[in-house]
Amino acid sequence: MSVAETTIVRPAGAAAIEEAAKLLRRGELVAFPTETVYGLGANALDDRAVAAIYVAKGRPRFNPLIVHIPSVADAERYVEMSNAARILAAAFWPGALTLVLPRRTGCPLSALVSAGLNTVAIRVPSHPVAMALLKAARLPLAAPSANPSGCVSATTAAHVAEGFGEKIAMVLDGGATPLGIESTVIGFDGDKPILLRPGAILRQDIKQFVGPLAAPDISKVQSPGQFESHYAPHASVRLNATTAVPDEALLAFGPDVPPGAKLALNLSPSGNLQDAAANLFAMLRALDKTGTKKIAVMPIPPHGLGEAINDRLQRAAAPRDNGT
Ligand code: TXA
Ligand code: MG
Repeated sequence: MSVAETTIVRPAGAAAIEEAAKLLRRGELVAFPTETVYGLGANALDDRAVAAIYVAKGRPRFNPLIVHIPSVADAERYVEMSNAARILAAAFWPGALTLVLPRRTGCPLSALVSAGLNTVAIRVPSHPVAMALLKAARLPLAAPSANPSGCVSATTAAHVAEGFGEKIAMVLDGGATPLGIESTVIGFDGDKPILLRPGAILRQDIKQFVGPLAAPDISKVQSPGQFESHYAPHASVRLNATTAVPDEALLAFGPDVPPGAKLALNLSPSGNLQDAAANLFAMLRALDKTGTKKIAVMPIPPHGLGEAINDRLQRAAAPRDNGT
């Protein structure tokens, strides 16, 4: 039996969502689709359940988790919403934007979601299955991307099952996630917004509401998840490839693919960045599965969604021996 067959993957119908909500209320782990990537969810009020996420993922304990909630109003129960945060929440929630905000005094969320920081990362997802699950469970859900720590994120239920086998109680299968790349993570220095992780919501769209986004201060660890090596396939990754080498698999982009690759997948033959984001993790996984030792990736333009795609690719290509 394959690993995938031993995990309980259930199509995300009403009965399965109810069952998943019960499992979450009992402190179990349930993976579910969001509009970005699959999340590995646990009751964010329950220390034991949140601790189980760190164990299942092999995630360093200093890397905090995103808490998913069903409504903007709920955020006020857990975090101090600044003016800028309220403006961004009104503009982008439900959606692929995560806000890192100070914990409220008496915040009932498990301290483990903050991993020792005095902040919580929070978002209202827009995927109907995520929303239905949050409402059925009547709980805030801590949910990192549903991949073993450091590995390529999961955009299908099968990816989740491959990564976790029997370690989790259920995977709700809602099909491939539409955006395919994680949420944009914004922190604040006072009211000044800081881009902690580029993602599915574009820098230029956020700027319209709160002005330019500052870069994180690298002398302080502001988002511990932004390690160099991350999103890593087993194969090594070569970036900005303009030629194909026979012993490398090629991850192409756009219509002008160099000849000579034995194996190639194209993120978007028409050069569309949305399609490329949606295909990125699934294609990295597919090339990796062929057993190739090297994956060469063609240049991706840096604008729009290209910022987040290049961020993920740079981490996928980073040296792996840095202990993360
Ligand atoms: O799209 C997404 O954001 C997905 C879906 C499932 O919601 N989740 C996701 O979670 O990507 P994860 O754990 O893979 O990435 C969360 C990122 C990490 O880089 C983490 O360090 C950062 O958010 N983060 C979480 N809490 C934080 C906090 N309190 N302060 C700073 N960064 C935080
Ligand atoms: Mg992740």
